[in-house]
Amino acid sequence: MSVSPKLQPEAPSRRSRTHAMIMVAVLMAATVAQRSTALAAEFQPDLWPSAPAPLPGMEAADAEAQQLLAGMTLEEKVGQMIQADIASISPAQLTQYRLGSLLAGGGAAPGNDVRATPEAWLQLTDSYFRASLAAATAAHRPIPILFGIDAVHGNAKIPGATIFPHNVGLGAAHDPQLMRSIGEATAAEVTAIGADWTFAPTVAVVRDPRWGRSYESYSESPELVAQYAAQMIQGLQGSWGSPGFLRPPHTLASVKHYLGDGSTLDGRDQGDSEVSEATLAHVHAAGYPAAIGAGALIVMASYNSWRGVKLHASHYLLTDILKQRMGFAGFVVGDWNAHEQIPGCTKFDCPAAYLAGIDMLMAPDSWHELYEHTIAEVRSGRIPGQRVDDAVRRILRVKVLSGLLDRQAPLDRAAASPLSALGSPAHRALARRAVRESLVLLKNERGVLPLPASSHVLVVGKAADDIGIQSGGWSIDWQGDHNLNADFPGATSILAGIRSAVAAGGGSVEYSRYGDWQQRPDAAIVVYGEQPYAEFQGDRETLQFSPEDSYDLDVLRRLKSAHVPVVSVFISGRPMWVNPELNASDAFVAAWLPGSEGEGLADVLFRSADGAIAHDFTGRLGFSWPRTAMPVRFDDAQGRIQGALFERGYGLSYGHLSHVAQLDEDPRVPPERREHDTLYHAAHVTAPWSIYLTDAGAAVRVTGERQDSPQGGLSVRRTSEGLDATWHGSVRSMLEIAGRPADYSPRARPGAAIELRYRLSQAPGEGVQIGIVCAPAYERHPAENLGDGTPGTNAGSRAGRCGTDSGALLDFTNELRATPAGQWHTLTYSFACFADRGADLANVQAPLAIEASGHVALQIGEVRLVTRKGPPHCGAG
Ligand code: BGC
Ligand code: BGC
Repeated sequence: MSVSPKLQPEAPSRRSRTHAMIMVAVLMAATVAQRSTALAAEFQPDLWPSAPAPLPGMEAADAEAQQLLAGMTLEEKVGQMIQADIASISPAQLTQYRLGSLLAGGGAAPGNDVRATPEAWLQLTDSYFRASLAAATAAHRPIPILFGIDAVHGNAKIPGATIFPHNVGLGAAHDPQLMRSIGEATAAEVTAIGADWTFAPTVAVVRDPRWGRSYESYSESPELVAQYAAQMIQGLQGSWGSPGFLRPPHTLASVKHYLGDGSTLDGRDQGDSEVSEATLAHVHAAGYPAAIGAGALIVMASYNSWRGVKLHASHYLLTDILKQRMGFAGFVVGDWNAHEQIPGCTKFDCPAAYLAGIDMLMAPDSWHELYEHTIAEVRSGRIPGQRVDDAVRRILRVKVLSGLLDRQAPLDRAAASPLSALGSPAHRALARRAVRESLVLLKNERGVLPLPASSHVLVVGKAADDIGIQSGGWSIDWQGDHNLNADFPGATSILAGIRSAVAAGGGSVEYSRYGDWQQRPDAAIVVYGEQPYAEFQGDRETLQFSPEDSYDLDVLRRLKSAHVPVVSVFISGRPMWVNPELNASDAFVAAWLPGSEGEGLADVLFRSADGAIAHDFTGRLGFSWPRTAMPVRFDDAQGRIQGALFERGYGLSYGHLSHVAQLDEDPRVPPERREHDTLYHAAHVTAPWSIYLTDAGAAVRVTGERQDSPQGGLSVRRTSEGLDATWHGSVRSMLEIAGRPADYSPRARPGAAIELRYRLSQAPGEGVQIGIVCAPAYERHPAENLGDGTPGTNAGSRAGRCGTDSGALLDFTNELRATPAGQWHTLTYSFACFADRGADLANVQAPLAIEASGHVALQIGEVRLVTRKGPPHCGAG
């Protein structure tokens, strides 16, 4: 190892081979010796890749950092070690507290408006940058903030930016040069708004695509992840040593999430990984040495744990392995309040994370308390001064190396990074090429593709004309699930791309969301797939595409039985079990999450009148495609799914077709794994859920378009957008979405909640209560008695439900009163609220119940069981 001792002065190590290590060992002899003996028995550091040679220029940067550090107060140092979210800090506070960094989180935006213009973003970064300069003291040069943003597939939070395919698609493109160009383009769009840093790339090696973040990963193959990560880093940052390195239009990258985010049990987000140290080192860490060798200077720690220890608390993995063994001389940033998950920590105070080796904590809304507490922890000696100096020196090194100290304020940087880079024609052309290259043709019977552009084409499905769906999560906002086409200026839907290709070829297009037609089509292109999600909201129990709702499958079958050739374009963040959909399709394209340039699809789907093919399919699977929905196993050394339907590397081309035989349509999902997490969606309930209306002790099930409650206190009407429910105020009435009674006590853990998307038409008069209903009431009146729409009697009193009178319903009157009518809102309540109030969750039948005694009218758009971060939501009364 040849790491300069100066660069890692106080990071302890168990290996004392090198000069640096000897110095460290002398300095910290006692503590290190203790820890070493404890660790030596269980850990095997020799399994890990050892440090590459230090990159040139690092020592000079370190000297400058050291000089700055010498002039800094403790308050300034601690400020550098904290990152706040723009939603929770003003420029004036930034000047006062002198924090080292800000981020714009998934939901944050200028004026809290995720649809704010690029100009507003530029103004915002400019004002914070200037505020950080205003904090200057005479003791050292001003130290500007680093402004970070999740530009994980282009600078996709900004309306008008180019949105590239998510990584799962880029991994299928197998084109390292393309990856690098995308890095360059993304950097230019990041710096255009005055940001300095993107929280990308993700180098997770995903072993279980039930994980909702699978689409942020390039591949299940460690080698591919390592290769693409290095290219992406060089594209984003420029090449180490070149004059443009880290200078706008390049940007700082960060590698995330260290470590093992893709290895958790059952693919649970933020879960625990039980893999061996060898697997962690060789499979899951593969991207890190490659990225560090390519110049990565920031690593983001992961939410997950390894063998029960949260990564944010792992001295071994953060300090001994990453900083010492791999020679990482940059800084480690924490993830969004992830430190609060360390036993003994809160989001406001967490010495353990700093001691383990996190240099900068991401404390979006908790920065102020964290700042005060951390200063106190250093004063009391709980966090040693050397640890603070090491962390700050690492952060300053990165600031020095990136030229931040000499950088102008964002509004003055226009020459190096003009706003016109955002969504520029060149970037869009690149994204369109990336779409083409990422598509994987799984099936093409009798060469139905390419379609003649001169034919009459029926395009089917909402997703065909929905740029939000084709972009997925981390687009405009965090989950990306409430976007309209108008939120993506300059973007093109898949439908628009098909229309122009077919118009140019002399054909015609008919678009129908549901698959009906005016003129018999020569072929149908059906576009469908997953709804957008980010992080834990995308976790699944199985890989079955649509366990509860056969809507898309029915459309495919209907077209097939009408002898219309069917082309499926499947939008998804991961490979999924789609055997029935494959059987019902003549051709099947895995399109992943293509992003803003939907024409990329039409580029490969059509041939010209003379038969010429402009672009063939070149995409090949970066993930194995599953043969069954369960179980998912990755047993061999390369991480291939056992018995994959299509192996990693599979993909057809026009010049190379093969036949896909009829597939088994049994998903083989054990009953306990069946998913019922969506209660109401796209204007319908699906099995096992039903809607009941109850008043004065009687209940009725909603079966038709309209239904009144037995006593007429409540009426519902189905519309294409949802369920209109009106409480008339004549009698206390309740609406419930009920299924089979189930034990919900495991959901009393933090995070498990119900999410109701609704739109108010009339504000509530008197009390509106929302919550859950337990089984006894229904046991006396089984659903079949109510199924024909005839009122049954419901003798169950509330006291019999959930074992408590007050525990099962929460007061939401004020929250509803405060909600502007006519717009969609989301209301959330956590199961923990009921448990905290003494309710028994062992026999919950209706996870959603809305009861009102006065007038109120609202439209229900969607109801889902979700997992979310933060404290429980229990209504505000
Ligand atoms: C995610 C990170 C992301 C950060 C900031 C976290 O919840 O895990 O990937 O960079 O938020 O938005
Ligand atoms: C933020 C994201 C963050 C997430 C985690 C969201 O509100 O916008 O950046 O990753 O919360 O809880």
